[in-house]
This record gives sequence, structure tokens and C-alpha cells, in this order.
Amino acid sequence: MRKIAVIGAGQMGTGIAQTVAANGMQVILSDIDLATAEAGKGKVEQALVKLAGRGKIEAADAEALLARITPVGDYAPMAEADLIIEAATEREEIKNKIFEAAGKVLAADAVMASNTSSIPITRMANHSPDPARFIGLHFFNPVPVMGLIEVIPGLATAQETTDRVTAFAEGLGKQVVLSQDEPGFVVNRILLPMINEAVFVLGQSTAGIEDIDKGCRLGLNHPMGPLQLADFVGLDTCLDIIKVLYKTTRDSKYRPAPLLVKYVEAGWLGRKTGRGFYDYSGEAPVPTR
Ligand code: 3HC
Repeated sequence: MRKIAVIGAGQMGTGIAQTVAANGMQVILSDIDLATAEAGKGKVEQALVKLAGRGKIEAADAEALLARITPVGDYAPMAEADLIIEAATEREEIKNKIFEAAGKVLAADAVMASNTSSIPITRMANHSPDPARFIGLHFFNPVPVMGLIEVIPGLATAQETTDRVTAFAEGLGKQVVLSQDEPGFVVNRILLPMINEAVFVLGQSTAGIEDIDKGCRLGLNHPMGPLQLADFVGLDTCLDIIKVLYKTTRDSKYRPAPLLVKYVEAGWLGRKTGRGFYDYSGEAPVPTR
């Protein structure tokens, strides 16, 4: 694959664009308009400036990487893409509209993938022009750093599609876990109940934010505690995923923690809004409870 289109220039989309471009491929990056797509490329530039400052990338390589990312304001240029990756907001109706619109320009031999964290691939495939060429490709945040990509074929996905995206993912230097199209796939099915349970523990005042995170960092050797990780992922995204698990399985073990719902209702969504379980307005994050 030589040219990849990424739809959605947020945290995940820009991370995917950076990783793909770092591996020598051309990237078409889009969002709701050109200015938003350009701002997404700006975020990649900021990440590269940081890496260059720490001597992790040569200035010339960073420049070449950036030059491989082309922000666009519509889907027409994606007719040239071998693979279109949707990395938009975790809302099924938004994703379906994207598959329908981008599907109009999808080349006859190209593949369409969704970076959904939990929405069924088989169902979304029906909104693409060819479910045999539709698949789940689930990246982890921060994409340039994390070593895993989940590959999730839907019921109608052709083996050739699975093979092609697996080769693409491995070509990015990532390892692949193949998951059946079940709610939450493999990793989020395990991670989100842990994050949700941490919020229950907080809500029941069993321990405070710092101790819950410290417990998991030191007791389980996790790089981040579950509440810090929830802030990192975005509390709205966490709630969306746990809601999908709850709705699709109807198993009460996935019921969202009331405190998680409250934080999202308050607009305290984590790092991206400057406040979640921690306050990010100062130099170091400060626990809010
Ligand atoms: N591009 C390239 N490299 C980058 C980078 C970027 N944008 N950002 C950071 N890095 C590199 C740094 O250069 C550094 O490299 P080095 O180890 O060779 O020096 C390394 O990544 C670590 O970066 P930092 O030193 O800045 O930060 P930390 O050591 O504190 O690690 C972390 C940060 C990698 C985020 C670590 O805390 C971590 O692994 N946290 C857990 C992340 C996690 O669990 N992610 C999964 C979330 S779930 C998900 O995404 C699924 C979704 O569906 C919800």
C-alpha cells in the first residue's frame, strides 16, 4: 500500500497519519473542513518538534515525514488511496455517513477500515460500498508509540482484505492481534471494565484518585493508573465504549459507573478539556478528589 487516507484529524487520526507517514507512505488527512485537517497536520508537526528536540528524529526526516501528509477538505482525493481509515468520533451515525460519502470515491481494489474502539464491524460494513473490503483496524493511543493493532474482520470481510491490512499493520512495525467482531474486541473488552471499576472504587470512596492509580501502577506494573489512563483516552470515549458493551451484551457487569456519567455530563472529559479526574491547568496534573 502506498497511499493511505485518514478521516478524522483528532488524537487518533493524527497519530495514525504520523505513523503511516513515518513509514514512507503518502497520507491524505481529512476532517470536517480543510482548516481542521490542517490543524491536525499542525499537531503532528508539534509532536515532531518535540521528538527532534530530544534527538529522536533528524530535522530533515521530520520535514520529509510532514511533506508526505496532505490535508484535504473533501473526499475526492481519496479516489487514489489504497486504504481509507476512518478515525472519526465514536458515534455510529457519524461513522456511517462517512462510509457512505467516502465510499463513493473508494477505488475498486481499495480497502475501507474503521478505527472504532467498540462498534460492530459487521453492522457498519453495510454502509460501505463493499462489505468484503471493509474491516476493523483498531490502533492504540499514542499511536506512534504503542506496539499493537487489532484487526477485526466482519462477517462479510474477505480473507484477502484481512491479509492486506495485516500486512499493512505489520509494515508499520506493529504487532497484530486478530479479533472476532464481538463487543469491545479483545483489549477494550478487558480495559474498559477495569477503568469503569476504578471509577466505582472512587465513587464508593474506597480510595482517592492518587491511591487508585498508584495501586495499579505499583501493584500491577501498569505505566498509568486506570483513572489517569481514562483521562488520557477521554472520559467521553470511555463512557461510549462501556455503553456499547452494556447495550450489546445487556450484561449488568458493564453498567457505567454513575460518577463517570457525571464527569462526562460536567464536560470534564480528561486531558483534552484540561480537567477529568486530574486538573491539567498547572505544570503537573493535580487529582480533583
Ligand atoms: N511520536 C513518536 N514517539 C513518541 C510520541 C510521538 N507522538 N510521543 C511520545 N513518544 C515516545 C517518546 O519519544 C519516548 O521514547 P523513548 O522511550 O525512546 O524516549 C516514549 O514515546 C515515551 O514518551 P514519554 O517519555 O514522553 O512519556 P512516558 O514515558 O511517560 O510514556 C506513555 C507515555 C507511552 C503514554 C505511557 O505512559 C503509556 O504507555 N501509557 C499507557 C498508554 C495506553 O495504555 N494506551 C492505550 C490506551 S487504550 C486505547 O488507545 C484504545 C482506545 O480504543 C480506547
